[in-house]
This record gives sequence, C-alpha cells and structure tokens, in this order.
Amino acid sequence: MLREIVDIISEGKREVENLLKEDTKKFETVEIVGEYNEEKLTNRFISGDNIYIMNALLKGNGCTSMKEKIDLIYIDPPFLSKADYNSKIVLPLDDELVTIENFAYSDTWKEGDISYLKMLYKRLLLMRELLSDRGSIYLHLDWHVVHYAKVLMDEIFGEDMFLNEIIWSYKSGGVSKKYFSRKHDTILLYSKTKDYIFNAQKEKSYNRGFKPYRFKGVSEYEDEMGWYTLVNMKDVWNIDMVGRTSSERVGYGTQKPEKLLERIILASSDEDSIVADFFAGSGTTAVVAEKYNRKWILSDLGYTSLQTTKKRLMDIESEGFIHEKIEEFSVPKGGKLKIHSIDKKSFEFDTKIISINLEGYEIDIDNIPIEEKYKDILYKVMLKDSLALIDIISIDPDYDGKIFRSRWQSKRDRESYKIPDKIELELLKKPKRSIGIKIIDVFGFESEYIIEV
Ligand SMILES: C[S@@+](CC[C@H](N)C(=O)[O-])C[C@H]1O[C@@H](n2cnc3c(N)ncnc32)[C@H](O)[C@@H]1O
Repeated sequence: MLREIVDIISEGKREVENLLKEDTKKFETVEIVGEYNEEKLTNRFISGDNIYIMNALLKGNGCTSMKEKIDLIYIDPPFLSKADYNSKIVLPLDDELVTIENFAYSDTWKEGDISYLKMLYKRLLLMRELLSDRGSIYLHLDWHVVHYAKVLMDEIFGEDMFLNEIIWSYKSGGVSKKYFSRKHDTILLYSKTKDYIFNAQKEKSYNRGFKPYRFKGVSEYEDEMGWYTLVNMKDVWNIDMVGRTSSERVGYGTQKPEKLLERIILASSDEDSIVADFFAGSGTTAVVAEKYNRKWILSDLGYTSLQTTKKRLMDIESEGFIHEKIEEFSVPKGGKLKIHSIDKKSFEFDTKIISINLEGYEIDIDNIPIEEKYKDILYKVMLKDSLALIDIISIDPDYDGKIFRSRWQSKRDRESYKIPDKIELELLKKPKRSIGIKIIDVFGFESEYIIEV
C-alpha cells in the first residue's frame, strides 16, 4: 500500500490541477425554503458529487467564491466498510406501523482501498482551498482506513497542522469473540494555519474519593455521581450513538449524534462562521450549526439526504436555505398527486382562504428500486391510504415556474405518519395566481404541480 500511496498523491494532484483548469459544472437553484434575505443567506444544500460542487464553490460559479471562506469543515465520508446503507421508512398499515428500507448510499469500492483513497485524497485537496486561514477540518473515519488517511492528511495539511486524533467511544453495535470489540471511531483534526479558531470546551472531572477537593480558586460542583471540577476537554469522547430509542433518530443508516457535532462546532467555529459538510447524510451538521447561529453549506449525492435534512430543519423551524443542484444531477420523478377539490373563500377585506383537499398519491410501485419483499406492503398502503406515501409537501403560492419558493411546508408527523389531507392557505387577494405544489415522496422522489386559481 505504501507504494500506492505515492501514486494516489501524484495522480490526485494532477487530476485536481486539471479539474481546476476546466469549466465548472453549473449550480441550478431547485428550491428556496422559507423566508430569506438573498444578501444574507449562505445556508445551502447542494445535491451532487462533492468534487464538482467544491470545484464550483471555489470558482464562485456566478455567486461569491467560497475560496478561503469556510471556517470549519466536518466530513464523515463512507468508511470503506464494504456495506450498503439504508434509510428506514415507517408506514401506517391496518392500525399498525410497518418499517421498510430504502437504499441510501453504497460504501463498496470496486477496486478496494486504492480507489477509496483516491476518491478521498482529491476531495481533501479541494477542501484545503476552501478553508479560511482560521479554519480547521475534522475527518471522521474508523479502523478501516483512518491510518492511511492520516498519511494523506499529513501530506495535504502538513504534519505540524495536526492537532488531534479524537477517539469517539460508544457502546452500541456488535461484539466479537475473535478480537476486542471495535467500539470507537477516529476523528482527525487539522488546522489550515497556526492561527486557527479554537474555543476550548469544558468537561466534568470527578474528584477521586467523591469528596470536594476544596482547592483555593477552583470551583467545584456536585451532581448525582459526586463532586467534580470543570477541566478542558480531552480527546477521548464518550458519547452515545443515536440508538433505536433516541429522540434524535431519523432512520438514516449512519446518522451521527448532535452532541458530537456540538463539540466540534462550538470548539472550531464562531457565531456567523461558515461551517461545511460535504458528505451530509442526514444533515446533522446543518441542524447543529443552525442551533448555534453558524451558517452552513452541505452537499450529498443521494436524494434521501436532502429529504432527511429538510425534515430535520423543519423540526427546528430553521431560518431557511437554498437547495441547489449541480447540473446533470437529477432526482427520480415521483408519482401523481390526486387533488379532490379546491375551495376558495374570501376572508376579511384583502385576504382569501384557499383550501386544497388532497385525495391520494399514485406511483408505479414496480418501478421503485426497493427490495421485492417490501412491494406487497407498498401496494397495500397505496390501496388503503396512499397519502401516507408522501413525505413532504411544500407550497409556493406564487410560483413563477422557475424557482420554487416554499412558503408553506408540511411533513408526515410521527403520530399518524401522514401529511394532512387538507391544506389551508391564507393569501392576499389577487385576480389570478399560480400555486406551485412540490412533493417529496417516502422514497425521495419528487414531483411538482401548478394549479391556477
Ligand atoms: C456516513 S454518511 C454521513 C452521515 C452524516 N454525518 C450524518 O450525521 O447523517 C456519508 C454520506 O456521504 C454521501 N456521499 C458519498 N460520496 C459522496 C460524494 N462523492 N459526494 C457527495 N456526497 C457523497 C453519502 O450519500 C452519504 O450520505
């Protein structure tokens, strides 16, 4: 492998140099979610392969270039685990809930370790260009490949910019009788320069003997475990995984805990910093960044990632974001929404209530790339309660047919697992308007409709 590392580096450098010379692929705006100020907004979810996305971000591509603008990059790429990952879909059927699995992304590499490291190296090179002078990068991996990745990181960022090997230790997962159970991931932390943002985080350190030390000038506290002082955080982090019963759980195979991202974001960014995650998955980075008033840029090539992130952002009543895609990226076309009726009534002097009554959703189940064993369930759900197959519904009350501006959104709730069958919009009176309806179904497929009222 050592010999191959040399080739990975020289080949990767050449490819990235060429990529930077080429025209970038263009960004297309798919949707603007929520209220937002075009000047202020940096929150962006970009669908597509991150190598093209980062290349376009560096060059600006019609917008401001993000070169040296990002204070923090956290990435949790596939780990070379040689597995496929699914997201879980819960559906209501006959007063019960059934769970089926939808493909999310693959972590199998035809040419094994080498092709994986080639993929990673090129992207890390671009990330360095995006980092600000005060920036740092957290590369989250595990035993599969972290040791080779460390060599690549040293080459790109410099050994003297290596700050930490963080061990995230957890309890869940399988055990082994043949070796010690593997219960940690490794996160490599590098800064771009020596002048990087670092806000030391504190953790509890319990006093031995469980009694107060009573040192002068040291504050001591007590909880159910005993007496403790607060010390600067160490590099071994005991944080529970997002378990089956966790309220954070969104069903995305490799979802990381918010607490993990909280530490990273608080330590290595400031308010209003731009935080990026180019392997977004379920969007944990955006959720935590937004909670702590950081701006974020996320990207992912799977469409279930956008769908999951969007729902999580709805839960925290996010400020809004722009969903872009790199040209050539496409989301499979969804099924057909059936509208029962549209009622209009005037309300007060200048507003109108428009009620859209939904009837159902029809999709060709045979064409859905889902395991055969789940198709029977899907037929039954479609027959009995087809609206349960719609995951998110968004409305643009004045759709111009080009950029969809979601002003109203709803998603399946965690009780009925259905969207509401009646949408009521209170709108300013206008002689005529085109209302856009955007649907993301439970498989992540999208469809759009325009109704003239
Ligand atoms: C391990 S998951 C990230 C999980 C995430 N940290 C979370 O908390 O949910 C890795 C993600 O990287 C995405 N991915 C893999 N290769 C990519 C690429 N070349 N460009 C963009 N996204 C990619 C996959 O679709 C997957 O969602």
